[in-house]
Amino acid sequence: MLLADMHIHALYGVDDGARTEEEMRAIVTKSYEEGVRVMCVTPHFHPRYFGDNREGVQTAFDGLKEYARENLPKLMLFRGNELRYDKGAPAWVNQGDCHTLNGTDYLLFDFLMDDDRDFIVDGVRDIQRSGYRPVLAHAERYTAFHKDWRTLRSMKEDGVVIQMNAGSLEGDYGRAIMKQARTLMDYGIVDVVGSDTHRPDSGRYYSLARTAETIRKKYGEAAAEALCRRNIIEILLGED
Ligand SMILES: [Fe+2]
Repeated sequence: MLLADMHIHALYGVDDGARTEEEMRAIVTKSYEEGVRVMCVTPHFHPRYFGDNREGVQTAFDGLKEYARENLPKLMLFRGNELRYDKGAPAWVNQGDCHTLNGTDYLLFDFLMDDDRDFIVDGVRDIQRSGYRPVLAHAERYTAFHKDWRTLRSMKEDGVVIQMNAGSLEGDYGRAIMKQARTLMDYGIVDVVGSDTHRPDSGRYYSLARTAETIRKKYGEAAAEALCRRNIIEILLGED
């Protein structure tokens, strides 16, 4: 099955993802070999956590495009960021330091796993009020919602795109997150799957193809295609 990935830390030397150009190439080649043909690279963005990585991102992205042109001819590459939410963070996007997904109004962002429920809920609203369409990264991982999946359902009803990580359904992030991932899937809350891959080696490489297969087996072919390809392409094109 052909796949699209809109959450991946393939660019090297800019966050806690790939460390070297070799690691970057290995991640992207591995993804390509398992069927990824559309990829939006999403380095973390938060000056305090990750420094000012804008120049490094540009250099790595240019290098990746060059490599892909020669070696992965059918790969379509896009870029965005994964914004680590903080008060005032939307201004970083407004002034062009942090990028939305392929320049659309969809903004991928995350919180710390143990951030407070109200901080997350208010942060999502802040992003919406700033005029962006929020894509909540790895929604299943926040402990604040492990006994409160209904809040995530309300967010979805309010237009928040709910992104689940590859590997969560299979237990790669532990039992509590696996349970939450299953709940969100069972209630039809998940909109898109992203790999959130950080390294080429197993342990930080999460196979989108494996999760697409898990979804296909349990929820059917149409769900797998929507969550692992179609919805992602629509987001990258800025569609509703
Ligand atoms: Fe991420």
